[in-house]
Amino acid sequence: MANYIDVLKENKQEHLLNYLKMADETQKKELINEIENINFEQLSELYKISKRDNEKAIESQLIEHVKFVDKYKMSEDDFNKYKETGENIIKNGEYAVVTMAGGQGTRLGHNGPKGTFLLDVKPKPKYLFEILVDNIKRANEKYGVTLNWYIMTSTENDAKTEEFFEEHNYFDYPKDKIKFFKQGNLPLISEEGKLLVDENFHIKYAADGNGCIYKSMRLDGVLDDMKQKGIKWVFIGAVDNALLNMVDPILLGLTVCEGNQIGSKSVVKRSPEEPVGVFCKRNGKPGVIEYTELPTEMAHEVDDDGELLFGESHIMCNLYSIDAINKISKEKLPYHSAHKKAPFMNEKGEIVKTTNPNAYKYEAFIFDGFAFFDNISILRGRRNEDFAPVKNAEGSDSPATAVELYNNYWKV
Ligand code: UD1
Repeated sequence: MANYIDVLKENKQEHLLNYLKMADETQKKELINEIENINFEQLSELYKISKRDNEKAIESQLIEHVKFVDKYKMSEDDFNKYKETGENIIKNGEYAVVTMAGGQGTRLGHNGPKGTFLLDVKPKPKYLFEILVDNIKRANEKYGVTLNWYIMTSTENDAKTEEFFEEHNYFDYPKDKIKFFKQGNLPLISEEGKLLVDENFHIKYAADGNGCIYKSMRLDGVLDDMKQKGIKWVFIGAVDNALLNMVDPILLGLTVCEGNQIGSKSVVKRSPEEPVGVFCKRNGKPGVIEYTELPTEMAHEVDDDGELLFGESHIMCNLYSIDAINKISKEKLPYHSAHKKAPFMNEKGEIVKTTNPNAYKYEAFIFDGFAFFDNISILRGRRNEDFAPVKNAEGSDSPATAVELYNNYWKV
C-alpha cells in the first residue's frame, strides 16, 4: 500500500502535511487514518463537476412533460379501485414507511436534527417527528396494522436523533417497529480542489445527499430487514412537511394498477419561483428538475391554458416497490454540486469564516433514482392537504405558514 505522503503528493493534497506537523499525536493518527480512507479517484471525479453549469446541462437534454392523475378528477370507479388495491396491501402488512431525516435545519436556524423542531400547532405544540408518529398511528388504527418505520439519520445528527426518541419514549410507538439507519458522507472541496480541515484536525465532510438513501438501505441491512418482514411497498418521505401523508392508499393503488414500480405525489407549483423540484421526462425517462437547476425561462413557460408547463411539484412523497429500491441501490446516481460557505482551519491553525461561498458540497438527489424506470405514477394532490413545508425561519415555507396549513387541515 502506498505511503500516505506519496498519496497526498500524487493527488495534489500535500497541504495536509502542514496540518500533520501542527497536530498532536492522537490528532495526527486520526488524520492519517482519514487520509487513508479517502477515495481520491472519486474526489477527482467530484471536483470535475464542481463548476459545471447545471442549467446548461438541463438545456442540452430532451425535457418533456410528464403525465399525472389528479386525485380529485378521476372517476369514482377508478378512485374506489385504487383505494381497495392500496388498502389491501397495507392491511396485509406489506407496506412500510421511511423518513429521511439526515439533513440539518440550517435554513430554519434550528440547532439540532430537523425532526426535533417544535411546531406551535393547535391544540398543543408538536415536534416534526411527533407529527409523523401521529400520522402513522392514525393509519395503524384505520388499517389494523403496526407499520414498520425506518428513519435515516446522518453522522451529524444520528446520536442526537436517537437520544431524542429515547427521551420522548418513542412517542409511545412500539420501539421494535422503529429502526434507525445512517447515510454516508463526502468530503467538501475548496475552490482550488483542496480538502478542508476543521479545528479538531478532521477532514471536513458533509452528508452525501438524500439520493444516497437507496445505497444506505442496502448497506445498513434495511432492505434485507424489509424483505424478511414480507414488505413489498415502501414510502419514502421528508421530515419537514407538517402535512405529509405517509399512508395514502390511492397513491399506492394507482401505482399498482398502472403497473409501475415507482409513484409520487405532486401539487401544483405556487409560482415559477417556488423552491421545489418539478416533474418531467428527461431523455425519455421520468425525472425531476431541481429548483436550483431549472433554467429561468423554463420555470416561466406556460401551456395554452396559462398553467406552468413545468408545474408539477415534487413534494418528497415517494413510493417504491421493494424491487425498485433494490434495483436503484445497485446503480450509480449522479452527484450534484452546491457552492457553500464552509468555515475551516487554515495552515497556520487559524479558523477562517468566509462571507462568500468557498467550498463545494456534493449530493445525490433522491429523484435521480426515477431514471432507472420507464414510467412513474404521479398523483396530483392538493397543497392544503399534502404540503406544509418547514424550510425557512420566516416568510414562505416557514413554521408560521406550516402551522396555519396544519391547523386549517385538522380544523383545530
Ligand atoms: C427537497 C427536494 C425538492 C422538493 C422539496 C420539497 C431533493 C434533492 N430536493 O428540496 O425537489 O421540491 O424538498 O420540500 O430532494 N435529507 C437527508 N439527507 C441529506 C439531505 C437531505 O436526509 O443529505 C432530507 C432532509 O432531512 C429532508 C429532505 O431530505 O427531509 C429534503 O431535504 P432539503 O435539503 O430540505 O431539500 P430541499 O432543498 O427543500
